[in-house]
Amino acid sequence: MPAVSASAPGKVILFGEHAVVYGQPALAAPVFDVQAKAIVNADISAPPGRILVDAPQIELNADLISLPADDPLAAAVRATLVELGIQQPPALKLRVTSTIPVAAGLGSGAAVSVAVIRALSAFLGHPLADERVSQLAFEVEKLHHGTPSGIDNTVVTFGKPVFFVKGQPLETFQVAAPLHLLIGDTGVASPTRIAVGDVRAGWQAEPARYEALFAKVGDLVRAARAAIESGDLAKLGSLMDENHELLQQLGVSSPELDALATAARQAGAKGAKLSGGGRGGNMVALVDETTSQRVADALLAAGAKSVIATKLG
Ligand code: PMV
Repeated sequence: MPAVSASAPGKVILFGEHAVVYGQPALAAPVFDVQAKAIVNADISAPPGRILVDAPQIELNADLISLPADDPLAAAVRATLVELGIQQPPALKLRVTSTIPVAAGLGSGAAVSVAVIRALSAFLGHPLADERVSQLAFEVEKLHHGTPSGIDNTVVTFGKPVFFVKGQPLETFQVAAPLHLLIGDTGVASPTRIAVGDVRAGWQAEPARYEALFAKVGDLVRAARAAIESGDLAKLGSLMDENHELLQQLGVSSPELDALATAARQAGAKGAKLSGGGRGGNMVALVDETTSQRVADALLAAGAKSVIATKLG
């Protein structure tokens, strides 16, 4: 059996994180500048059924059988085998690598799952359709953060900009004028599960206040989509700033995220906000070709550990 490889991009949430878990829309886009990759090889020296999982970046090199049920990589493999109805696959080696920063709001968990599900199902002779890949990755996402909205697996699987509403079919959107984005990493690892859990606790304690904030985020998301579809980048930038303020009120920003967003604006970004789960991880700034370098330099000077420049549309 020839080796099979598959990859999946990272993603950036442009608007609407957290409120999306409560049924509001969100906008997100793939980031092809970073990728997760899975390669499956036959292992002719091993007995049938043995699956060796090798993920050097997380120092994992183990037999599938020894990995716990809640290990996300093992869960992606097991979910694929169950889906295909294969109890004893041929012996194989699965190698997983990724350039997507982990626990940083860039969808690394979902991208790894999607790459694994794609590579493994293709290797076993039954490549799964995107819809199914996304659903299986969603099941694995539940291990990462309990109550995911499904936005990460959707964007990463389909590789398209999405206007996402939990439980609804895929809806993409048009980008009238290219969006030049900078993604700045605070370097603070922040598991999405914690931030999502804290928002849930806040909502349970003060439902009316949180629901009002979620509804305001939803209004911003719809306005942002209109601004993207009409190419009104000045408006889009100010909507990003407003979304950041609402995320602060939801309690998911951090001094590092606030500092990077402020530095980006002061250096000429049209707008900036945290992106993803928050508390750490990444922020995103809207720039243009003339301000991009200056804003990137300002982000690094303000403490960003890395800056990814990406273009949408
Ligand atoms: O931190 P990330 O990139 O996994 O983004 C999570 C987005 C949230 O809205 C906070 C959670 C979700 O499931 O939608």
